[in-house]
Amino acid sequence: MQTSTLACALAIALLTAGCGPRTESPATDSAAASTAPATTSGASIAAGPAASPELLAQAKALFQPIPDKAPDPAGNPVTAEKIVLGKMLYFDGRLSSSGVISCNSCHNVGMGGIDGVPTSIGHGFQKGPRNAPTVYNAVFNVAQFWDGRAEDLKAQAKGPVQAGVEMNNTPETVETTLKSMPGYVLAFQAAFPQETSPVSFDNMAKAIEAFETTLITPGAPFDAFLKGDARALTADQQAGLKLFMDKGCASCHNGINLGGQAYFPFGVVHAPADAVRPAGDRGRFAVTKSQADEYVFRAAPLRNIAATAPYFHSGNVWKLQDAVTIMGDAQLGATLAPDEAEKIHLFLHALTAPIPKIDYPELPERADTTPLPADG
Ligand code: HEC
Ligand code: HEC
Repeated sequence: MQTSTLACALAIALLTAGCGPRTESPATDSAAASTAPATTSGASIAAGPAASPELLAQAKALFQPIPDKAPDPAGNPVTAEKIVLGKMLYFDGRLSSSGVISCNSCHNVGMGGIDGVPTSIGHGFQKGPRNAPTVYNAVFNVAQFWDGRAEDLKAQAKGPVQAGVEMNNTPETVETTLKSMPGYVLAFQAAFPQETSPVSFDNMAKAIEAFETTLITPGAPFDAFLKGDARALTADQQAGLKLFMDKGCASCHNGINLGGQAYFPFGVVHAPADAVRPAGDRGRFAVTKSQADEYVFRAAPLRNIAATAPYFHSGNVWKLQDAVTIMGDAQLGATLAPDEAEKIHLFLHALTAPIPKIDYPELPERADTTPLPADG
């Protein structure tokens, strides 16, 4: 779905123990990101020794770097106006019935695109059943959610607004709310100029999807490596990458996002502990009703994984090292030696990239006719 360009070497940063590189790469305003590349070239800082051409070739066959710009989603050409509107909607708590829960409440763009709790807390402080995945690079996933039940970001965005445990609203109230504020009416008109009645629930979802195409992080050391910078990974990370490929992690976690493309049983070889894979959540079974899909989940995308603890759909594992060991046991049956798991863990840190610069949007002021927040 994308062509990898051997473009400029990206600015990369040295990895220090226990903290991912989130440093000096130039950032772009997300509103402008549809036209401008999210990164510009910079001098590469060598992190490690030059990797062998074989390792690079093996990696290039399995993974692709994040492109500087995401492709337009099907049926939703991205424009600067749509991104501006989508960003407003993403940060606006008034899409929820309580008036306070926005997309950013659970997918905090300053914190890896997540909420950092085991399972999300939504309307009325209710706990949802699953951990919030990151919105960063979600545009590259083949389908959305842990079980892939939404086909794209447009379909996805309608879910949380209506979910009782998330934003607990109705499409009608959202439309009434947005139509009541002149600032939103103007922004919808600019984003959907051909339409006679542009303020709609569908267009809300399209605008949010357009904004989400800017939530991409192309500047990880691993991207620099895939683009040909043989020194972008430390020696340990190179060894971890080799293990990640040779042990079989990459048979499920591959492509641009190292995952997000296909579904697999969670527990191919050994069922994970009940706390990690709670019996009540049978994954894709709920979507397809097929026995074969019991405890089947989407291979989780691993981009920026070091920044998105806790792990798994249950959110019960806090340390990335433990997640690696659990995967080795559950999916491969090969108990990884501690030093192997540690090297894979260090490699996963090379998937952490600087986030795009996102200016907090100014949200339209309410009108007298704007529905009042409901209790909860
Ligand atoms: C109350 C917390 C909460 C709110 C509010 C919320 N989300 Fe989510 N989001 C989640 C959880 C939990 C999941 C995973 C659900 C699942 O897989 O069943 C999720 C999944 C997603 C995904 C799928 C990512 C992937 O890799 O599959 C995207 C994209 C997303 N949300 C965007 C949004 C947008 C846009 C909004 C605002 C319209 C929003 N979310 C509001 C908690 C929330
Ligand atoms: C057979 C396919 C398969 C293999 C092999 C596999 N995984 Fe996974 N991986 C998955 C699935 C499916 C999930 C989602 C599990 C869930 O529902 O919580 C996942 C989740 C993860 C997570 C948690 C992601 C998150 O956002 O919480 C990490 C980390 C991970 N895998 C790393 C690895 C590593 C490292 C290896 C090799 C040792 C590996 N995986 C091997 C399919 C696989």
